[in-house]
Amino acid sequence: MAADSVTIVEVGPRDGLQNEKAEIATADKLALIDQLAEAGLSRIEATAFVSPRWVPQMADHEAVMRGAVRRQGVIYSALVPNEKGAEAALAAGAQALAVFTAASESFCRKNTNCSIAESIERFRPVMALAQRAGVPVRGYVSCALDCPYEGEIAPEVVAVVSAELAALGCSEIALSDTLGHGTPERTAAMVEATLRRAPARMLAGHFHDTSGRAIANVAAAWELGLRVFDGSVGGLGGCPYAPGAAGNLATERIVTHFAAMGVETGVDLARLNMVAQRIAAQFHGA
Ligand code: HMG
Ligand code: MG
Repeated sequence: MAADSVTIVEVGPRDGLQNEKAEIATADKLALIDQLAEAGLSRIEATAFVSPRWVPQMADHEAVMRGAVRRQGVIYSALVPNEKGAEAALAAGAQALAVFTAASESFCRKNTNCSIAESIERFRPVMALAQRAGVPVRGYVSCALDCPYEGEIAPEVVAVVSAELAALGCSEIALSDTLGHGTPERTAAMVEATLRRAPARMLAGHFHDTSGRAIANVAAAWELGLRVFDGSVGGLGGCPYAPGAAGNLATERIVTHFAAMGVETGVDLARLNMVAQRIAAQFHGA
């Protein structure tokens, strides 16, 4: 009997694929999403309803959201930057939404063409739509440790932006190390600052793995009470507006890490490894 459990949010089909240069067929994305569900991932960020001019790889968001086979017990969510995206995502059957802002003004502008305050204003109609539809909204805080344009970010800024998202009605805040250069010490300081404004049950960790310390950052956040972590199968990913950012932490590494601790993830590691091998071969010719 596992002593504790953790929830893994699979962001591969969105954060993982958004940075892929070659066009990926919608059918391949749908197959990936279903294989992930089959492996036991219960929350899957399937696509992003963002501008296709900004992120061409997500241009088929509607077909992906509509086409994803719904398995019982699995929540299929969509990333949305504004009301237009939220409307389309909900119409296509998104069961949860995710909005995104940052703890860095420069990054927020590069990523969404607005200030942090303006991004929060854009989320108000998103929250209203979600509430009417009865779907939860997660809020990402990018650059929670470092910004590619501004350098190190003060923990208190992350805490303040997180509190704003919570006040807006987000049910979960994803503290995101966009660049992936964080250390466990700085992760702990950032999480501790945020915990003074939001309870651990509302916080999730989203770590990119550029410097290879993402799993250590997960461990640091776990110690402080976080129980939701994001992974991208095969470690796919990056952000088109974060130069130098490598892939997300591989989902299979998170599963392996928690299995060794006797913590239940609900994920079948053997199946997940097969998915990781398949996409590596498919997208990177491995
Ligand atoms: P903008 O150009 O300022 O927006 O972009 P606009 O309101 O002036 O609209 C311009 C055009 O975009 C219009 O079309 C709109 O209709 C269209 P036109 O009339 O020119 O043909 N548009 C949309 N189309 C589809 N879906 C929409 C939408 N909204 C407007 N929702 C905007 C502002 C936010 C739209 C743009 O900046 C954008 O789409 N940015 C997305 C960037 C992005 O996706 N980045 C990657 C995801 S974030 C991330 O990876 C970080 C994360 O993983 C956490 C971490 O690791 O840090 C979450
Ligand atoms: Mg990310």
